[in-house]
Amino acid sequence: MAKLKLKHLRAVRWFHWINFPLLALMIWSGVLIYWAYSPYHIGSFHFFPQWFVSALGINNRLAEGMALHFTLMWLFVANGIAYVAYTILSGEWRYLVPRSPRAFRDAWQVVLHDLHLRREMPAQEKYNAAQQLAYTGIVLMGAGSVLSGLAIYKPAQLWWLAALCGGYTSARLIHFVLTIGYVLFFLVHVAQVAMAGWNNFRSMIAGYELVRDE
Ligand code: HEM
Repeated sequence: MAKLKLKHLRAVRWFHWINFPLLALMIWSGVLIYWAYSPYHIGSFHFFPQWFVSALGINNRLAEGMALHFTLMWLFVANGIAYVAYTILSGEWRYLVPRSPRAFRDAWQVVLHDLHLRREMPAQEKYNAAQQLAYTGIVLMGAGSVLSGLAIYKPAQLWWLAALCGGYTSARLIHFVLTIGYVLFFLVHVAQVAMAGWNNFRSMIAGYELVRDE
């Protein structure tokens, strides 16, 4: 017989689904800032071809990009802090943070399993080792984006933060690389969710998962 089992707490689902559009808008407004003015480009790095930039109309929208970026960042930070605080207080962090000394080895075995190169999955609780590393990593990346972003935002007042990032130029590079990291995380995350199926996806919306009795 199948029965419903609570998998994701209500607050965690809210934090997760608030974060998704917020992060998307942070990236979008970041793109508006980056493309507003060619000296902003890191090296001679042109990420998108010109026809793509023209099609999206992302040129010369600096004020709009900055207004959006610097407003939404407060919500992004508040949601992130609330998520981490709730995860600690509810004890959910135990499922999320890799605590086994074998975490990296287990994560590699999960990758091999997902690529159909290994039959068995390593033992796991709520999340496998690869998920634990990815979910903990993405939270640390969020903190890194906020800190490097603040260093670029107020480099005179927060000079010590910029220095901690290795200087203003290096803070910009960190901020940029982390953004690419989110896009890569997103592609793998959504592909994994699609492969895991409807039951798993629904549990992140409704909270419950259908489990069958052995
Ligand atoms: C269309 C976009 C997205 C979909 C469909 C999606 C879906 C899901 C699902 C179904 C889970 C539960 C996984 C499981 O139970 O095995 C999950 C967990 C998670 N996702 Fe996403 N997600 C999306 C976007 C994002 C983004 C943009 C981020 C962060 C950058 C993110 C970070 C996380 C984290 C940290 C967890 C673990 C949450 C916890 O248990 O505390 N997701 N996601």
